[in-house]
Order: sequence, then structure tokens, then C-alpha cells
Amino acid sequence: MLHGSSSNGYHRLEQQREGRPRKRRGGSRFRASHFGQPPAPPCTEYDKAYFQAYSHIGIHEEMIKDHVRTSTYKAAIMQYQDSIAGKVVMDVGCGTGILAIFCALAGAKRVYAIDASDIAFQAIEIVKSNKLSDKVIVLHGRVEDVEVGEMVDVIVSEWMGYLLLYESMLPSVIFARDKWLKPGGLILPSHATLYMAPVTHSERYRQSIEFWRDVYGIDMSAMLPLAKQCAFEEPCVETITGENVLTWPSVVMNVDCYTVLVEELASVSAKYKFTSMMQAPLHGFAFWFDVEFDGPQNIHSNEHLQPLRSFSSDIVLHDPNKSKAIVLSTAPEDDPTHWQQTLIYFYDPIEVKQDQVVEGCITLSQSKENARFLNIRLQYSSGGRSFVKETVMR
Ligand SMILES: C[S@@+](CC[C@H](N)C(=O)[O-])C[C@H]1O[C@@H](n2cnc3c(N)ncnc32)[C@H](O)[C@@H]1O
Repeated sequence: MLHGSSSNGYHRLEQQREGRPRKRRGGSRFRASHFGQPPAPPCTEYDKAYFQAYSHIGIHEEMIKDHVRTSTYKAAIMQYQDSIAGKVVMDVGCGTGILAIFCALAGAKRVYAIDASDIAFQAIEIVKSNKLSDKVIVLHGRVEDVEVGEMVDVIVSEWMGYLLLYESMLPSVIFARDKWLKPGGLILPSHATLYMAPVTHSERYRQSIEFWRDVYGIDMSAMLPLAKQCAFEEPCVETITGENVLTWPSVVMNVDCYTVLVEELASVSAKYKFTSMMQAPLHGFAFWFDVEFDGPQNIHSNEHLQPLRSFSSDIVLHDPNKSKAIVLSTAPEDDPTHWQQTLIYFYDPIEVKQDQVVEGCITLSQSKENARFLNIRLQYSSGGRSFVKETVMR
């Protein structure tokens, strides 16, 4: 998960401004060869800045110290030891090589650990000092450009960004899947789900906005419009608790990594409809995701990416027939991760009563300016009033 500090406290990708060409591919699952594989997209100045950001130690330290993240990947790799032992693995975006090394320790015959960032040079040293150079082959380059010379049995990757899609790394995993994964191969993680829920957060509103009403006895309410703009114009990455959430979450999208297509990620829209479980000021919406580590045998449907279609039926229910797949969750009620939650605040809260309906539509699209940024359009209606908030996660 890439981050850098920004003036208003949330993390962002610091990159220069230029468009990024989109990849196109056909629709077949489990490509067994490179035939029909589209050419690698050019590496833009944005991409170079993105890889440069990943050459710093801090970001890798933060990811590795995220115990929920790293230990869940480790547990999933160990759970699939039978599918990994004696097999060829590709780690897409290996960073320090930690996941590649977990796979080698799980008995992989060979692991191609690929990273376009200079952190790959550290990975080479780490692999060497752990005496795994005969098994883990670190390649410094984009997965779209490297040649590994053989098809792989397993792809492992930690590609998830804020709001799941920010950073746009999933297309690189899809590229690797279509070019290098054997038919029936394993992808870890296999599925991802993005959720949203309405939130109340009076404390946050008080600290950032109401604060200006009385500053050491001075009325600074003239600051209110600027304070609202600075605090809430863009998405905020911060931790909330289950108490901030006004009702059950809705699914914005489901991603099946075995079948999802790059073009399906360019723009995702979902309708939602919530019924507030309490009377409270509605300050905005929170978003979070989870990923599941499931085998190819557990592909349930042809719908690899499913935006919300109907309303109440999309309230999150746990399917008792689902396999016992390991899940990495970034939900407010679960242990915190470095992803925290992403909040989109309104400039002014809406008072909602118990059982009041809040409904609308959310659209997440890759920015045309830089495909690693996310354009967000949030339409919401409640109590007979309708609003639209447009923002960019950059
Ligand atoms: C979120 S980090 C994960 C690092 C490591 N796998 C871990 O779990 O600690 C993603 C890494 O993928 C690399 N990356 C992203 N897109 C890539 C691509 N297309 N080709 C090669 N590396 C890529 C980045 O440079 C970054 O080091």
C-alpha cells in the first residue's frame, strides 16, 4: 500500500501529471499461453514516480509491521502449502521479498519475485542472507516486461490500495495471470470485496470544524468554509470504530481475481440504500475492503466483478456454504491495519432519524489524468434532499 504524507493528514500518491494508457484484453479465463496477450503498456512518468515511491524503506516497514496484513498472508500461504510445495510461484510486486520467502519456506520449487522498484535490490540481499538464492529469483522490472521463461502454478501479490482500487496495481496482477499462470493455477488472494456504510462522527466534526467557532474566546467562524474544504474536500484515511457506523454495510463491488478483466476496473458504479438504525447526524460514508484466499476450485459464479444491483439483498450476510477461506479484513470492527478506513465526509452533516432511508449511487473511476488516481462521484439522497459530492483520491 503506497502512501506519502499530505497536508491534510491522509496518505496520497505523489506523482506528476500525465495520462496512462489502458490495457485491453479479450475475455477468456485462464490463458494458458502468451498468444493473444496484449503488449505491455508503456511505463509512464507516473509509473516511474510510483516505483520510486516504493524504493523507500518506510513504506515497506509500515506494511511489514502491519501484523494483520503480513500474518494473514503468511497463514494463507501456509494453508496452501500443498499447492505450493514443489511448484513454481510468482510474487507480483515482491517489495522486500517477504511473501516470496514465505512461499519458499512453504516448499516452492522456484519463486519469481518481481518488483520494478529499487527495493528489489534489497530483496536480492535478503534472499541471499537467508540462503534462498537457489529458490527465489528476484527480477528487477515491471511484471509487464519481465521474462521468466516458464508458466507458474501460483501467483501471490499484495496489490490492494485504499478504497481497494486506488494505486491501480490489480491490472498488473491480471496481466501476470493472463501471461504466466497455468490453467487452474492458484491466485492469492483470490477474491476481494469493497464495502461502504453511512457514518456518524461528531467528534471529528467538532475537532476540525466546530473548533473554529470559539478559539480562546475569539469567534473564528469566518474560517468555517475553509476548514470544511481543507478537512473534507478529499477522501480521508483514518480509523473509525463500529460505533461510528449507522447501519450494516453494503457491497460496492466483488472482485474475482481468477476472472476479472482490466477494462472492468476502469469504472465501477453501485447503487446503495441504507436504513439508519438510529437517530444521529450523518457525516459521510466509510469504505473498507476484505480479501479472501480461496482456491480456483471455489469459483462460485461467472460474475467476476459484481456491483451492487438491488438493495436490501446486498446487506452483507455470511454464506454458511462458503469455504473456510482465510480473510484479511480492514473493517472498522476488526483489528486495525495500515489501510485503516477511507472516509468521504460531507461538508455539512444531515440529521437522520431512526429508520430514515439514505440512498444513492457511488462511482469509482480511474482518473484520466493518472490511472493510479481514483475519481469518486458520490450521489446521496435523504429526507427529500439530494446531493452530489465529487472528489479525487490522489
Ligand atoms: C504493496 S507493495 C507489496 C510489497 C510486498 N509484496 C509485501 O507484501 O511487503 C507493492 C509492490 O509492488 C510493486 N509493483 C507494483 N506494480 C508493479 C509492477 N507492475 N511490476 C513490478 N512491481 C510492481 C511496487 O513497487 C511495490 O514494491
